[in-house]
Amino acid sequence: MNNNENFRRFGIVLNDHVVRTPVAISSMAGVVDAGYVLARKAHIGAAFIGGYSVDEKTMEASREIADQGRSEFLFDDPITELTSQLERMEGSDVALGINLRGSSAGSFQAIAEEFGSQVIYEIDAHCRQEPMVKAECGEYLLHHPGRLIEAVKALKSEEVTVSVKIRAGVHADDRKLAVDLWRAGADVLHIDLMDLGYQKVRQIRNESPLFIIANNSMNSFERMKDMLSHGADMVSLARKSDERTLSGLDAAISRYAEEHGWYNSPKQLCRGGDLRALTFCCMPVKNCPLIPTLQKVGMTREEYIALKQNFVRDTPLEGGKQTCFGSLSWCCKDTSPCMFRDLTIRQLSLSSREYMRLKRELAGKLMERLFDDRKRQEAG
Ligand SMILES: Cc1cc2nc3c(=O)[nH]c(=O)nc-3n(C[C@H](O)[C@H](O)[C@H](O)COP(=O)(O)O)c2cc1C
Ligand code: SF4
Ligand code: SF4
Repeated sequence: MNNNENFRRFGIVLNDHVVRTPVAISSMAGVVDAGYVLARKAHIGAAFIGGYSVDEKTMEASREIADQGRSEFLFDDPITELTSQLERMEGSDVALGINLRGSSAGSFQAIAEEFGSQVIYEIDAHCRQEPMVKAECGEYLLHHPGRLIEAVKALKSEEVTVSVKIRAGVHADDRKLAVDLWRAGADVLHIDLMDLGYQKVRQIRNESPLFIIANNSMNSFERMKDMLSHGADMVSLARKSDERTLSGLDAAISRYAEEHGWYNSPKQLCRGGDLRALTFCCMPVKNCPLIPTLQKVGMTREEYIALKQNFVRDTPLEGGKQTCFGSLSWCCKDTSPCMFRDLTIRQLSLSSREYMRLKRELAGKLMERLFDDRKRQEAG
C-alpha cells in the first residue's frame, strides 16, 4: 500500500509521516533497537526504540541497572549510538520515536538539537528502576511534574514532535497531567495503562486533543478495539511485540477499517463512548446522557444544535429527510441497525464506509471546537 492508500484507510499522520497501521512497538531498554524494529516493520506503523540514557547521571544509572542483571543499552556516547541507529532506519516507512532518559530538560534538548525533526522525541517518565528515579528521571518526573513540563518545553523550543511515556495512576490526577502536557506543547501521550483499562483512555480523551497511544497487554484485537473505541489513536506492544501478534493486530484492524471506514470510531455516548461520540448523538430532545455531557463541556443545547448544523452544511450529512431528526448529522453509528438511515445513505449514493468517514470529519470539527473553547477560557 502506498502513502495515499494508508492515509485513506487510517488517516493517521505522526511527525509529518503517514502511518500505515495504528500498531506500534513500545521501547524495552537493551532490546528494542533499529534491528528489532526492522525485523517487524511489515506489521507496524510506529516504533519507539530505546530507552537510551543520554547524560552522565542517567548513563551511570543504566550501568547500575545492568550490573543488577537487567538489560540496558550501554555506550560511551549517546549521539554516536543514536546516529548509527537512525542511519539503520533510513528508508523505512515506520514513524520512528526515540525513548530517552535524561536528568534535566537540557539533556533532552541537546538530543533534539542534534537530530532535528527526523524522529519523535519520547520522554521516559515511566521507568521505576531505583537508580533511574534517583537520577531524577523516569517515574521521578511524574512525582515532579514541573520538571516534566520543563523537559517538554525545552524539546518544543526545537520545534520537534514530543511524546511523553507515562504509567497511569502514578501522578495524583492523570487528567490534569494530560491537560498540563497538552498546554506545554506535547503532541503524543503514550500511556502504560497498567490494569486501569479503557476508562482511563476515555478520561484523557475527554480532557485533551493529544494523540493517545494505549499500552500494556494490547495483545488481542478485542483489547485493542476497546482502547480505540474509547479514544486511543494507536496501541503499542513491548513484551508481546513478536511478529505473529503484531501481524494479527495489523490484519484485524486493517480489515475493520476497510469495512467500517473509521478505525477508531467511538461507541455511542449512551453506551459509554467518549466525547467524539457527539457526532452520533440525536437532537437534544430527551433525557439521556447527552444533556449532562453538554452541561459538562459548557455548551447549551442551542449551541450544540447550531454547531452540528453548521459543520454539515453543504455536505452529504446535511440530507436525510426520512431520518428521525431530518438530517444524517443526528444519525447513529453504522453498527446500530436502521433502515431509514441506510435508505438515505443509498439514495445519496454513499457507502456505509463513506458515511462513517464523514462522521469522523464531523467529530474532528466538534472536538477541535471544544478544545479551542477550553483553551480560550483558560487563556481568558
Ligand atoms: C525489559 C523491558 C524494558 C523496558 N524498558 C523501557 C524503557 O526503556 N522505556 C520505557 O518507556 N518503557 C520501557 N518498558 C515498558 C514497556 O515499553 C511497556 O510500557 C510495558 O512493558 C507494558 O507494555 P506491554 O504489556 O506491551 O509489555 C520496558 C519494559 C520491559 C519489559
Ligand atoms: S442523544 Fe441519542 S445517541 Fe446521544 S446519548 Fe442521547 S440517546 Fe444516546
Ligand atoms: S434515523 Fe435511524 S440512525 Fe438516524 S437517528 Fe433515527 S434511529 Fe438513529
